[in-house]
Amino acid sequence: MKITIINGSPRKSGSTAKILKKMQENFEKKEDVTVSYYDLTDYSLLECSGCLSCYARGVCHLKDNLEDINNNVAESDALIIGSPVYVSNVPGTLKKYIDRGHFVLEQSLYGKYTFAVSTYEIGGSSDVVSILNKLFRISGGIILGNLQIKLPFNSNPLSLPGMEKRLGKTSNHIYNSIKGKKRKKLIDRLFNWFAIRHVIRPYAVKKPKQYKAVLERWAKLNIV
Ligand SMILES: Cc1cc2nc3c(=O)[nH]c(=O)nc-3n(C[C@H](O)[C@H](O)[C@H](O)COP(=O)(O)O)c2cc1C
Repeated sequence: MKITIINGSPRKSGSTAKILKKMQENFEKKEDVTVSYYDLTDYSLLECSGCLSCYARGVCHLKDNLEDINNNVAESDALIIGSPVYVSNVPGTLKKYIDRGHFVLEQSLYGKYTFAVSTYEIGGSSDVVSILNKLFRISGGIILGNLQIKLPFNSNPLSLPGMEKRLGKTSNHIYNSIKGKKRKKLIDRLFNWFAIRHVIRPYAVKKPKQYKAVLERWAKLNIV
């Protein structure tokens, strides 16, 4: 079982990272799990230039190491994204990755398990979880839940009462769901089918040259 964890905070040792690293530690106690952990801030990601050439080529033309992360996600069974709340939204670090992660048209999370983690001080974590869940849903992912953790800025979530136990339970829930091949909710399956069939597909089929890589990816996944 392969799990990718992405820390979308610009702070590598911040509260979000501490939670994600604890989850990584929990997963790595299982014999059959390999975890890849990414701090997006290490990647100095460039902004999407909006050229759309990735739809034809399958990879981004910008010269940074973003595709390393994308390739890793493609090989994983599950993706966990952690994000602090920045002004009721995700931080720019994470948004750059979302824009360039080949998520929606390529259905990069098709059949993959997904989980959102959000830390915050006052409010806005439901906005962040909603942004991440929408991303997961429209990219074909199977949503396993989310964690929203309120705590003072720059504090250690692991010192909150019951936190280690909560993270242990959450990690087990994710592990058991993947192991038991938990099915996507009917409502999400219908949503995904409708979105591909009636929204995304007609759009791409009209311009097969421009969407060459997208159409090849769908054929590989057998999703249309
Ligand atoms: C620029 C900035 C904007 C923030 N905006 C919010 C906000 O809108 N709501 C909130 O509850 N916390 C906000 N916070 C607090 C962080 O979300 C919170 O402290 C989070 O746990 C930090 O995670 P990190 O240590 O992993 O970076 C903000 C922090 C920063 C630096």
